[in-house]
Amino acid sequence: MDDVQQATDAPPIQTQYCEIPLKQYTMEPFAMMIFGGAGDLSQNMLMPALYHLYLDGELPKDFFVAGAGLPAMSDEEYRNLMSEAMKRNEEKLDQKKWTEFKERLYYISGDFSNNETYEQLRVLATELGKKCGNNIIYYLAVAPSFTEQVVKKLKEFNLCRGAFRTKLILEKPFGRDHASAVELNTVLLEAFDERQIYRIDHYLGKETVQNITFFRFSNTIFEELWNQHHIDNVQITVAESEGIRHRGEFYEGTGVVRDIVQNHLLQLVSLIAMEPPASFEAESLRDEKVKVLRSMVPLDPEDVDRNCVRGQFGPGLLDGKKLKGYRQSEGIREDSVTPTFFAGKFLIANWRWAGVPFYVRTGKRMPRRTTEIVIQFKQPPLKLFDANCNQLEPNLLVLKIQPDEDIFLRFGVKYPFSPNQIHPVKLEFSSQRTFHAEPHPVYEKLLVDCMEGDPTLFVRQDAVLAMWDAVDPINKRWEVKRPAFPNYESGTWGPPEADHLLERDGRRWLSV
Ligand code: BG6
Repeated sequence: MDDVQQATDAPPIQTQYCEIPLKQYTMEPFAMMIFGGAGDLSQNMLMPALYHLYLDGELPKDFFVAGAGLPAMSDEEYRNLMSEAMKRNEEKLDQKKWTEFKERLYYISGDFSNNETYEQLRVLATELGKKCGNNIIYYLAVAPSFTEQVVKKLKEFNLCRGAFRTKLILEKPFGRDHASAVELNTVLLEAFDERQIYRIDHYLGKETVQNITFFRFSNTIFEELWNQHHIDNVQITVAESEGIRHRGEFYEGTGVVRDIVQNHLLQLVSLIAMEPPASFEAESLRDEKVKVLRSMVPLDPEDVDRNCVRGQFGPGLLDGKKLKGYRQSEGIREDSVTPTFFAGKFLIANWRWAGVPFYVRTGKRMPRRTTEIVIQFKQPPLKLFDANCNQLEPNLLVLKIQPDEDIFLRFGVKYPFSPNQIHPVKLEFSSQRTFHAEPHPVYEKLLVDCMEGDPTLFVRQDAVLAMWDAVDPINKRWEVKRPAFPNYESGTWGPPEADHLLERDGRRWLSV
């Protein structure tokens, strides 16, 4: 960033870079055991992330990675499988570095229900443990239905505590509702302590999502306005142009509320709405986020009918390409009632936010991929302008999360040479243009944090439960009321009811 220059001949004022004092963590030698080590997540996300960390010199001298699961294969075959995956994922693979890296890969073949798998795992963990101070990280890159089984077996084989110092990384969803999340957690806590558990919500690893807290709490000009006195409403959109890819079976059993709303969307709500934390320590931040989630006004069935909209995409056109509907996708029933779109209005019953609607929406097969947060400010108290114009274009603060990482502020100015026209203009910050920063791969950030033992960007169990409390009434209501699906075409912004939701309140979606 350029230093701020004075307009006179005075020496330039140096920009002062302030750093928030963060707790220092260190990375120790480790062995990572990935259950589902040959699966999609491992091939396309975890292995590339680990390899990049290695290339960047961020891993300790002694680190090891072992895949576990099926199909059965030798270490050598696993290394070859990962080499193929890396060739697909990397434009230019540094062969020398990759060869060094893949020497650290191992594989344990076996079914997760089979004791022998865990016997082998213990042998390998003991052998590698000697070189890495018994520091073992388990990564569950498996379908949620395997989680409890694997954790119970790890406990049975004494692989969680005792001789080993361990951590457990889990991928969402954490249960299907409040009750099952409690059950799952009981199993987890019989084997691990809460501080050993790292629940991933990959949205928290995104730079722009992390920036929400930095932006909010380092700028008084916004923080002073960040409340029901000045904010009219908040809108959060997580739109995807993609469909469900080849994840039909998973998606059919999940649906949009469990896939995106219960986690990514509510995490964004909590970051926007939280109170300033006492410090940037993990628990201070996580405490404040949970408080917001717990203040969300519970929905009763009538609220769900009135304030929540569901949709499922049918066939349509996107960028001139004809697309199949959800029901025609691989692995989906012809009469599926799984929602692929959600729009809803949430209220937060606390001092800061009382009466301010949080409108959120998310969907697959929307016109474009965008995640953005729009804060709409209130109208001026006195209408000094044209009596025919009862609404000025409102002030907006927009935080764009992806694909562009931008922040902008919209305000009105006098249109030049017109006697009375007000024109909305933008003051804009672009991360790419200012810092030449490319979007940061989230798994690298999250893996490092877990290796170092920093839980800040991981989801604590009380937050998981509070998020289920917010969405359980929606899923419950929708299970008993059959929808008329499909109700939006691929390539559109969802069913018309999503617009009516805001129109009823005299508002509209302000996607920018
Ligand atoms: C995942 C969901 O958690 O997030 C997917 O399971 C979704 O359905 C994905 O496509 C979206 O992530 P991103 O980072 O592309 O916005």
